[in-house]
Amino acid sequence: MSKRHIGFNKPYLTGKETKYILESVETRKISGDGLFTKKCHEFFEKKYGFKKVLLTTSCTDALEMAAILIDTQPGDEVIAQGYTFVSSVNAFVLRGAKIIFCDSETESPNIDVNKIEELITPKTKAIIVVHYAGIAADMDALMKIAGKYNLYIIEDAAHSIDSFYKGRPLGSIGHLAAFSFHETKNVISGEGGMLVINDDKFSGRAEIIREKGTNRSAFFRGEVDKYGWVDIGSSFLPSDILAAFLLRSLRILMTFRKKKTYLELLSQEP
Ligand SMILES: Cc1ncc(COP(=O)(O)O)c(C=O)c1O
Repeated sequence: MSKRHIGFNKPYLTGKETKYILESVETRKISGDGLFTKKCHEFFEKKYGFKKVLLTTSCTDALEMAAILIDTQPGDEVIAQGYTFVSSVNAFVLRGAKIIFCDSETESPNIDVNKIEELITPKTKAIIVVHYAGIAADMDALMKIAGKYNLYIIEDAAHSIDSFYKGRPLGSIGHLAAFSFHETKNVISGEGGMLVINDDKFSGRAEIIREKGTNRSAFFRGEVDKYGWVDIGSSFLPSDILAAFLLRSLRILMTFRKKKTYLELLSQEP
């Protein structure tokens, strides 16, 4: 790269990622939902008050889970802002939905809430909202529209870890939300993401969809004596090695934010 160019992104490394990764490897439970995944889940639920979180292999995959959870069908319409990354809408297109693009605000790439109602039809199922570059969309207006027309709000919070709307963490307001821990984001695990479930009715099915359509999570909690195929699904859970990297990355975020309590939470040995 020439000296005249500024690189798009340089991942911030703490130097201790490999220490956490080694610890994960030594647990000999390096598939999904190991010790480090649990610590990340606990962190996100305690720190941001998210009702339920599930680490995923990417934000794209978290959005795919959201599309399945709201039962997206061919012919459904989903409203999304035109200025976003392809993943915001791919998941819904894959399940046969038609994307209706809405204009952005003049001052930001966020969805212009004043232009949404004219796009709603009896086929509209959901609105995908991107908090572009971590700047909050007008969530009060969006939730009001959702209530009026019985629609789901899915927050594409790929850019929005530790960002807030009127004091509430982004990702905690819509029915579902998806975060990214891709190398280009503030908190990273190389590739990685997270689904946040704010509406309880999706919790049980989300676990199943993430685990290849099986009730394996319930089995590991001792709630069923064997697990089987109970629904559609895919393999959306990341290796615990990635969760180890993510936990280290979260620690750095908290250092930046000087949140002592959460620093302590993160520094506890896994
Ligand atoms: C708005 C938005 N949504 C979704 C994604 C996809 O994230 P991931 O790479 O974790 O799948 C991105 C990636 O940059 C994004 O910018």
